[in-house]
Amino acid sequence: MTIPTMIAGVSFHVPETVITNEDLTKILDTSDEWITTRTGIKERHLCSGEENANDLGIAAAKKAIENAKINPEEIDLIIAAASVSHYAYPSAGCVIQAAIGAKNATAFDITAACSGLIYGMKIAKAFISSGMSKTVLVVATDANSKFMDWTDRSTCVLFGDGAGAMVLKESVDGIEDILEIETVSDGEKGMFISMPISGQNCPLVEPNKEEPMKVYMNGKEVYKFVVTTMPDAIAKCVERAGHTPEEIDYLIPHQANVRIIDAMAERLGYNSDKVIVNIDKYGNTSAASIPIALCEAVQEGKVKLPCKAILTGFGAGMTYGTAIVRLREGIC
Ligand code: ACO
Repeated sequence: MTIPTMIAGVSFHVPETVITNEDLTKILDTSDEWITTRTGIKERHLCSGEENANDLGIAAAKKAIENAKINPEEIDLIIAAASVSHYAYPSAGCVIQAAIGAKNATAFDITAACSGLIYGMKIAKAFISSGMSKTVLVVATDANSKFMDWTDRSTCVLFGDGAGAMVLKESVDGIEDILEIETVSDGEKGMFISMPISGQNCPLVEPNKEEPMKVYMNGKEVYKFVVTTMPDAIAKCVERAGHTPEEIDYLIPHQANVRIIDAMAERLGYNSDKVIVNIDKYGNTSAASIPIALCEAVQEGKVKLPCKAILTGFGAGMTYGTAIVRLREGIC
């Protein structure tokens, strides 16, 4: 028997410090005009001092638990999705588990970059529908700014820091909230976006090259890959959910580039009322961008609950994924 999954609570958290495009002109040969017209980004929130991805994830998780009206001890699984965790170990999942007092949870991390939330939701649904878990917390958190080459103007201007969290649990009324979910991996294109973790060989063997821990991105190739792959993949996922695009209320996409979002919207025949865009305020916050876009749109009245929505993301790997979901009243 398959147990239906409900989305019980969602939230987000971003650092306080805001860096505008104009601020970036102090350290880079760039302009507000270039960044705005190529990407849609105006400003981004960045970690300052010791603040890190775990701190952001903990704050988002606490708010999502509150929205889901559950006790942290009810959580039996925590999946943390970060493009780059603050520590290789302990996992972000374990750090978050301790901070929120989810003492009955098994916790682990997954790496699917900006598709992390969708990958995490798919694992959560598998655990819940099989009866292996009853209440799952997915935390998608990234402090991209710590891994930028701040002299590489074609990449560092794109990213911001932030976290999102989602509580999924056994449906209380038997209604399934994840109508369809698909994830895809294309490792052959892995070097389009990469970040080496460099170590040093034992001094008794041949030394290895040490590479700086920085994000390398071929933006043009990523752009081409995404605009030629994602719009059709999203449309097919809607179809598999048994819906037409018109029957879905909103497209809530990963916020990487407004031109990529426009290509997705065009394929679905959506006007701007149905498409959630907040890249101007946050930049690309990787795994966190979908929950940030969703919750902020609900707070601002742009998304009215209950509704049906497309959540879709893509990122390093290359990975991408789409979920067609039912969003209940009061989840954020
Ligand atoms: N300011 C001013 N000029 C710049 C900047 C900048 N910040 N960055 C690049 N330029 C210059 C380039 O040097 C180039 O100059 P040239 O013609 O003299 O050589 C010119 O602007 C054009 O550069 P392009 O790379 O052709 O610009 P493009 O229009 O392709 O936009 C961008 C670049 C924004 C990166 C685009 O390719 C893009 O959005 N790609 C997708 C990125 C993405 O979605 N990444 C997802 C990451 S998800 C994850 O998992 C991490």
